[in-house]
Amino acid sequence: MTLVHFAAPSLWDEYRDTLPRALAEAGVTATVSPNAPDPAAVDYIIYAPSAPLQDFAPFTRTKAVLSLWAGVERIVGNATLTQPLCRMVDPGLTEGMVEWVVGHALRHHLGMDRHIVNPGHVWDPTCPPLARERPIAMLGLGALGLAAARALQALNFSVTGWSRSAKDIPGMATEHGTGGLARVLSTAQIVVTLLPKTPETENLLNTRTLALLPKGAVILNPGRGPLIDDTALLAALDSDQIGHATLDVFRQEPLPQDHPFWAHPRVTVTPHIAADTRAFSASRVIAENIRRGEAGEPFLHLVSRALGY
Ligand code: NDP
Ligand code: OXD
Repeated sequence: MTLVHFAAPSLWDEYRDTLPRALAEAGVTATVSPNAPDPAAVDYIIYAPSAPLQDFAPFTRTKAVLSLWAGVERIVGNATLTQPLCRMVDPGLTEGMVEWVVGHALRHHLGMDRHIVNPGHVWDPTCPPLARERPIAMLGLGALGLAAARALQALNFSVTGWSRSAKDIPGMATEHGTGGLARVLSTAQIVVTLLPKTPETENLLNTRTLALLPKGAVILNPGRGPLIDDTALLAALDSDQIGHATLDVFRQEPLPQDHPFWAHPRVTVTPHIAADTRAFSASRVIAENIRRGEAGEPFLHLVSRALGY
């Protein structure tokens, strides 16, 4: 069996040893290579958007395309991709995302900036509220949103989750759909967006929905840039409707040097580093999916072409 790892060469370096090891552990016999001289001989494609590959039509024998990324918006609409597409759900990636969300939520919850940068040596003994008094909206309750929501709950934050479909999650208040969004936003002091970019989620946070939030609410966006209307966010920051936005993802990446987010005093830019797929754990996920494919079992984390995630 032949597997081809289509990604930037630096990524291949991370997988060249870990992937064969994980395949062997899963009982899969395969040759893994970073290129495909004969596309018609490739059984599985391991894919990252950093690869130039755009035409999947010549891969006539390929049983699945396994994305190294959780977000698949750059590949899901590719008309040549007729093979099953699986997105990445990686324990290492999830761990990183949980850390990013919790870290940035705590920064704003505790008002850390006031003390870290205090040139006037102001002695302000105002104590922050307890986490239980801080309502957080988690937009997206998938692999990443649910894990981040659970971690915030473990610190006693009052988390309400929101998703496309209705959920029954023990110990967590949840809402879904358009009406649910308005209810979730109406009380949230911190909003975390862990949604995929799809036609339905684009500009979800816009002038109307940002106005539903309590004044001074904080936005954390590690999901995708287009979830937020940039112009509406900047206006909401300038009118103090939004207190701060911590953004990891952008419509254009790298964020152009002249983008107003860089200079805005109440925007924190992190350069798409919230969470990375980790070769040590992702290799096992890939190996398990290939084992399943070969055993005739359903693939894990199959992307719905209709929903776009
Ligand atoms: P999942 O597919 O597991 O979860 C997606 C969640 O979004 C689900 O709860 C889904 O609802 C919800 N959702 C989708 N569409 C809608 C909608 N129209 N209205 C309401 N809810 C909706 O994805 P992951 O949790 O694995 O990843 C989420 C996103 O995080 C990725 O798509 C990617 O964009 C981003 N990401 C960012 C990284 C970074 O470093 N910044 C790293 C990795 C991922 P339902 O449960 O009903 O299906
Ligand atoms: C991903 C990402 O989708 O890194 O995996 O953003």
